[in-house]
Amino acid sequence: MDIQTKARARCHWLPDLDAAASPRYQALVDRLAADIAAGTLAPGERLPPQRLLADALKVTVGTITRAYREAERRGLVEAKVGSGTRVRSLASDAPVFHHLSHAPDGSVDLSLNVPIPHPMRVQQLSGVLERLAHRPGAIDAVLAYQPEQGSQASREALAGWLTGQGMPMTADELILTSGGQHADYLALQALVQPGEAVASAALTFPGMIAAARQLGLKHVAVPMDAEGILPEALERLCLQQKIRLLYLMPEHNNPTGARMGETRRKAIVEVARRHDLLLLEDGVQFVTAERRGTPFYRLAPERSLYIFSVSKLLAGGLRLGALRAPANLMARLTASLRAQYWAVPELMASAAIEWLASTDAKTLIDWQWQEVAARQQLLAERLNGHQISAHPCGFHAWLTLPEPWRAVDVVARAAERGVTVIGADPFCVGSQPAPQAIRICVTPPAERAQLDDGLTRLAALLDEEPRRVSPLV
Ligand SMILES: Cc1ncc(COP(=O)(O)O)c(C=O)c1O
Repeated sequence: MDIQTKARARCHWLPDLDAAASPRYQALVDRLAADIAAGTLAPGERLPPQRLLADALKVTVGTITRAYREAERRGLVEAKVGSGTRVRSLASDAPVFHHLSHAPDGSVDLSLNVPIPHPMRVQQLSGVLERLAHRPGAIDAVLAYQPEQGSQASREALAGWLTGQGMPMTADELILTSGGQHADYLALQALVQPGEAVASAALTFPGMIAAARQLGLKHVAVPMDAEGILPEALERLCLQQKIRLLYLMPEHNNPTGARMGETRRKAIVEVARRHDLLLLEDGVQFVTAERRGTPFYRLAPERSLYIFSVSKLLAGGLRLGALRAPANLMARLTASLRAQYWAVPELMASAAIEWLASTDAKTLIDWQWQEVAARQQLLAERLNGHQISAHPCGFHAWLTLPEPWRAVDVVARAAERGVTVIGADPFCVGSQPAPQAIRICVTPPAERAQLDDGLTRLAALLDEEPRRVSPLV
């Protein structure tokens, strides 16, 4: 037996690099990332010794050393003297990552739409900041005042990334904002006068409800079905009153998971054109290109705004978002920004966008989409038989409760069992009656097993006899 055959027989992990076009060490890291994401390599699993893998793959030991070092930098593995290189275990980062979702008392928080905790986030952002700090001219650039829309360089980089994701747009059409919520508020504040009406699906993002209320706008609830807003209902409301702007989440309604088909989108555009509505599409719950329909800004560019944010892809704490707007609305939006705080800090914009556009971020985002899909599958299994509406890329699922359960009782009894979920109330526009439903977020736990634990407790609860907390009357 030759050396390679012997080495191959002893390697428990043998990546196939033949088809890879990138440098060998890079191809090896990409394969490693893919196998970790797919679960072929488990957390804590030891990688083959460097010399053995080099012989098995017929490459130099230097190539393997470089690949393992790069994988460590990307947060995929950790190397310890005496115990080799192992797939990074999430548990080793427990103090930082578990506090949100799985407290030491065993409680599981499934109430928030946050990115899945992963040590790669810390590693990757640290790398970006280090690169920025050492790049000639980069620090100089962030010290300067920028145009209200944000720096040309950052907007070009973001427009390029979005275009690559199948969302073609130019730097001139973009305003950088301090997160998606700010883009929401900015659009309402600059384009709708106090006392005027805006409309949204009857169940919608609480941040939009809060912004409209804060700005003294009338908020009209449009009846919805499994595809979201009903065009006929919107038409009727427009005939009864002047509505200035319609807020939409066509890909993945927060909270109901409703997704709008193409015919529905076109019907809404027709109503908008007949009644001169502005369309504000919130794309913060970003989904993969294959699953995305035509954004409204492509169907009706003259009246549509689009909101993007890095909050669900990279991290909410970065507070970096963007608003795409038609040219005729730009002056009003930038005037409002100038009056508020001039422009988004370029330090944050350049760091967040550099991270977003990196190959590291692609690994992270691809992993997250695979993990979200696996978690949605797990939820469907654990709550099998219940009425669930969810999206394969969605951070949450919407569970319509079986008779005679009421949402307040489920939320309270889940909390007694250490599981936090929220009912429909915060998502209801105005005094609309809340459906008996709960939103379950699958992303807060760092480990899938914690989600499983929370879902199992919820499923057991729903199998019990409903008990109401009766007030003394
Ligand atoms: C639909 C929607 N829009 C906006 C936001 C706020 O995004 P950001 O954290 O970027 O402000 C969220 C956050 O959950 C959201 O779900």
